[in-house]
Amino acid sequence: MPVPSTPETAPIRPVDDPQARAEAARLLRAGRLVAFPTETVYGLGADATDENAVARIFAAKDRPRFNPLISHVPDAMSAFALGEATPAAERLAAAHWPGPLTMVLRRRPGCPIAWLTSAGLETVALRVPGSAAARALLAEAGRPIAAPSANRSGRVSPTTAAHVAEELGDRVALILDGGPCPVGLESTVVDLSGARPRLLRPGAVTREQLEAVLGPVELAVAGDAIAAPGMLASHYAPQAAVRLNATDRRPGEAFLDFGATRGDADLDLSRSGDPVEAAARLFASLRDLDRPRIAAIAVAPVPEAGLGAAINDRLRRAAAPRG
Ligand code: TXA
Ligand code: MG
Repeated sequence: MPVPSTPETAPIRPVDDPQARAEAARLLRAGRLVAFPTETVYGLGADATDENAVARIFAAKDRPRFNPLISHVPDAMSAFALGEATPAAERLAAAHWPGPLTMVLRRRPGCPIAWLTSAGLETVALRVPGSAAARALLAEAGRPIAAPSANRSGRVSPTTAAHVAEELGDRVALILDGGPCPVGLESTVVDLSGARPRLLRPGAVTREQLEAVLGPVELAVAGDAIAAPGMLASHYAPQAAVRLNATDRRPGEAFLDFGATRGDADLDLSRSGDPVEAAARLFASLRDLDRPRIAAIAVAPVPEAGLGAAINDRLRRAAAPRG
C-alpha cells in the first residue's frame, strides 16, 4: 500500500511492487522525475532522450553546472544500441554488467540520448545496474534513463528512500523504495572512447579488476581541467568563438537569443525566458549554430536565477580563451 503523503511530498512505494514500477515507468515516459534504487545509490531518474525532462533533473538538484549524466539501461544489448561497442567494451560488459560500472562510449549514429544528457559530448555514459528491480523498471520504461544521485547539489548521495524523501521529496513525482543500497558508493566510470582506457571515477569495480579485463588503464588527471577551460574531454565547447551578454549582432556572427530580445535571432533558448527550457536547448542550440562559416556565436544575456547560473557557467567556459 502506498505510504500516505501530503500533496507536497512524493509517494514512496516498494520497487518490488509491479504496479508501483508500472506507474514509475509511465511517469518517466511522460517526462516526470522518479527516484529509484540501484545497488550503488538512489538515482534521480528522467527519460534520457527528453531534454526537458533532463533539464528538470538539474533544476531539482539545484546543480550549479551541467555535467554529463549516466544513462541507465536494462542490458548490454540496449547499451550497445546507443554507444559503440568495442572489443574492450564487450569484454568488460561480459565481466561486470550488470553491476556498479559505467562505460563512456562513442555515440552511435542516430543515438537518441539528448545533448543535454551528455552535456554536448560525442560520447555517452552507459550503465546496466546490478539491482534486478532497477533493471525491471528500465525495461518497462523502454528508454534510457538518465540518473545522477538523488540528492541536492553539494549533499551526500542517498542510500535509503528516506534520504531521498528528505532531499527531493517535494521535487519528484514518485520515490521507489528498495531498502538500503548494498554498495553505497557511485559506480566506477571508465572511458573506452579513446585509444586507451581511462578511469574517470573510482568505484566498487576496482582498477585492478578493470586491468584484469582490459590491460593497463590510465588514470584521469584532475589538473587537466584547469589548463584549458572548456577543452577538457568531459566538457563540450563549440569550434566557433562565443560572445556573451550580446545585445547587438556583428558581421559573421550567429545570434542565440534568450527571451525574444531580437527579431533576427537564429535561435532562441527560450522565447518566454524560462531557464529550464533554455537549459534543455542549450547544447543542441550551440551545436546547431556551430557551423564552419560562423565566426562567433553571440549569446543574449541570461539571468542568473535558477538554472540560469548553470547555463552561464557553461557559456563562460565556452567563451574562455582557448589554449
Ligand atoms: O552509481 C552511479 O553511477 C549513480 C547511480 C544512480 O546509478 N549515478 C551517478 O550518475 O553517479 P551521475 O550522472 O552523477 O554520474 C556522472 C559521472 C560523472 O563523473 C561524469 O563526469 C561522468 O559520469 N560522465 C558521464 N558522461 C560522461 C561522458 N560522456 N564523458 C565523460 N564522463 C562522463
Ligand atoms: Mg552525486
